[in-house]
Amino acid sequence: MPLPLPRVLIDCDPGLDDVVAIAVASAHTSVVGITAVAGNAPLHHTERNARIACDLFGLDTVAVHSGAERPLVAPPRDATHVHGKTGLDGPPQREPSRPPDSRDAIEFLVESIRSEEGLWLIPTGPLTNVALAIRAARDLPGRLAGISFMGGSTSHGNVTATAEYNVWADPEAAAAVLAHGHETLIRMCGLNLTHQVRADPAFVGRLLTSSSEAAQFSGALIHHYRNYHAILVGDPTAGCPLHDPCAVLAVTHPDLFAFERRHVAVECSGSHTRGMTVVDGRGYEDPKARNVSVAMAIDADAALTLISAALTA
Ligand code: BDR
Ligand code: CA
Repeated sequence: MPLPLPRVLIDCDPGLDDVVAIAVASAHTSVVGITAVAGNAPLHHTERNARIACDLFGLDTVAVHSGAERPLVAPPRDATHVHGKTGLDGPPQREPSRPPDSRDAIEFLVESIRSEEGLWLIPTGPLTNVALAIRAARDLPGRLAGISFMGGSTSHGNVTATAEYNVWADPEAAAAVLAHGHETLIRMCGLNLTHQVRADPAFVGRLLTSSSEAAQFSGALIHHYRNYHAILVGDPTAGCPLHDPCAVLAVTHPDLFAFERRHVAVECSGSHTRGMTVVDGRGYEDPKARNVSVAMAIDADAALTLISAALTA
């Protein structure tokens, strides 16, 4: 008998790689609902893009709810210079087939988690919605199977030398969520991990020449992102990291990963380090303080095979 698929809530800011995460979730999980947050692009775009992703990957009955329009404390700062004005640059523009389901992502998260124990929550954008939901209902972390998020890093940042975008965009929210790491399992897929999973020109080429419409669309998204990344690093052949699907794979295929239990704090005030995840690597700190299972390594070939199969299915 096959094991039942994990039942998941996806909180995202699509965003090129968020779309890829939704594709992987559509193939390997039972998606209970999707909530959108402002991040890569303003909220009205990320919510709309989530509905487009549902159309592409057959999530016709999955509700999409829009949530926080801005971070808890920080000013809103998008990443449209990477993902494009609408958050989905690259392929021809599409219209979603249906209207949004609600504007109350926070209430949806609270109700879903209270009505079903053992859901996984997979945030792939700034953690604003998740922090607000936990603030509204303190019992939520204890009811989840876990939280698997893309964000942070054990090494370098991407927006600044030390900070990764999702945590940098709303550090107060990330700090509030990680504070619950003793009530629920928290898995962190940071840049140290996601930079191991790279889409190279051959990977993109296979998607673009696939007969599947979803694969062609995703191929065009990743093509756009790879070009941006190649210019950024000054190497025309460089593969681009596929960040967000890693947070889904950490739920669906944990055997591909090496996790280490670490204490992770979010820097909310440093002038050079605001938004940094401070990951304690000493090894002799109090083990009871360790609040996060940090993904350190992944079988990248297996991950890329799974991602490609999900996009072409
Ligand atoms: C993260 O930031 C966003 O731009 C991506 O969608 C990903 O979630 C990478 O730092
Ligand atoms: Ca994202």
